Amino acid sequence: MKVRVQSFTISIDGYGAGPNQDLHNPLGVNGPELMDWVFHTRMWRQMHAQPGGETGIDNEIADQSFVGIGAWILGRNMFGPVRGPWPDESWKGWWGEEPPYRVPVFVLTHHPRPPLEMAGGTVFRFVTEGIESALSQARAAAQGRDVRVGGGVSTIRQYLRAGLIDEMHLAIRPVLIGAGEHLLHDIDLRSLGYECDKYVPGERATHVFLRKRS
Ligand SMILES: NC(=O)c1ccc[n+]([C@@H]2O[C@H](COP(=O)([O-])OP(=O)(O)OC[C@H]3O[C@@H](n4cnc5c(N)ncnc54)[C@H](OP(=O)(O)O)[C@@H]3O)[C@@H](O)[C@H]2O)c1
Repeated sequence: MKVRVQSFTISIDGYGAGPNQDLHNPLGVNGPELMDWVFHTRMWRQMHAQPGGETGIDNEIADQSFVGIGAWILGRNMFGPVRGPWPDESWKGWWGEEPPYRVPVFVLTHHPRPPLEMAGGTVFRFVTEGIESALSQARAAAQGRDVRVGGGVSTIRQYLRAGLIDEMHLAIRPVLIGAGEHLLHDIDLRSLGYECDKYVPGERATHVFLRKRS
């Protein structure tokens, strides 16, 4: 059972999201430029009930990122644009009534909220006790499969600093974002025990696979 980051995309200058995330800019300003590799894949189009899409290295890697995952962990900002105490329970994520996760998803937040059961097997559970609690709950829910830390940036940074990520796939896009949420600022991955396992040039991103030395 591993803790994996998969298909997390950064720009050449290291940003995983642009600034000023809101309802109209879920990835922050200029953020869609980051994800412009996955948008073209057959996997993404199928996920959004659209025909076509490219097959190839990017598609294969994006597709693999969902295989063998038994639970996810997300930060509250990846779940949505609502900040502070939940005003009500109307926000149910960006993904519509049937999100693509199809397994339990643990959302880190300081603001409690009852679990949210969606169509297709996704249940969002809101965790206010911190990253270690979220991970132990996700591990129990995953029933032997891997836990995927989906993001966003702040969430992955916390798990990296705690040395709790076993494998991390970064898709590096040839774009400059300039400002926003920086993934690795002030984090010394080398000292934390990470190394580059392999890299694969895809059609629209370069895929770098890091792993924690055992
Ligand atoms: N590049 C990619 O591949 C990729 C993938 C996923 C997401 N994203 C983007 O990343 C951005 C979100 O990243 P982000 O860094 O802003 O935020 P994030 O990691 O999604 O969420 C941060 C928020 O989660 C809650 N939280 C985090 N750690 C916590 C802890 N230990 N205990 C309790 N609550 C905790 C806090 O919310 P509260 O205090 O408000 O509860 C915190 O403000 C979005 O734009 C998203 O679209 C990019």
